[in-house]
Amino acid sequence: MDIPLLVLVGFWLVLPSMIPNSAATIFGGGTPVDLGRSWNGKRILGDGKTWRGLIGGISAGISIGIIQLYIAFPFDRLDYFGFGGFPENLGVIVALAVGSLLGDMIGSFIKRRLEIGRGGKAPVMDQYGFLLTSFLLAIIFFPDWFFGNFWNGDGWVSLLAVLIITPIIHRGVNIIGYKMGLKKVPW
Ligand code: CTP
Ligand code: MG
Repeated sequence: MDIPLLVLVGFWLVLPSMIPNSAATIFGGGTPVDLGRSWNGKRILGDGKTWRGLIGGISAGISIGIIQLYIAFPFDRLDYFGFGGFPENLGVIVALAVGSLLGDMIGSFIKRRLEIGRGGKAPVMDQYGFLLTSFLLAIIFFPDWFFGNFWNGDGWVSLLAVLIITPIIHRGVNIIGYKMGLKKVPW
């Protein structure tokens, strides 16, 4: 495959991991996931992680993935442009979407232990945490899918592209969210 196509495939395949974060910002609010509880005097996750955000975000990620399967189906019934055959491709999408907000919560858990307040900056973790956890779940449950697309052969080019593009997209989307009044801070 050509490099532009490998970049595009990488981006296409991580969409179900990227969408949940933005969707959580839109749907979020209400009861926090940790129900307001603390551990050793510090909030477990904080008020920035809510049930509505979690459920809305995961649902949005899975919905995008299903739309992608519908788009790919007429062209590529065997591989769905990289998502793999049905029904495993549904599992891949769920792993990416769940992993995304699981990573987001792990990030907040670590930030609260380090006494970084809600919305406080945590470089690297903020930009990559969600993607790495998505990939981790994919590696655990669908190793052939992950290594087939993101490692073997030319796959590493897609991985590299995604790792370079992700912090740029993350920053861009957060600035937009901030300007729209959805986010309190532009990071
Ligand atoms: N959000 C939510 N539920 C989630 C994730 C996000 O409601 N599971 C909403 C919250 O309103 C949150 C916003 O999306 O403030 C932005 O998400 P994020 O940047 O991850 O949260 P922060 O407010 O920065 O909190 P933290 O410091 O814990 O990351
Ligand atoms: Mg944040």
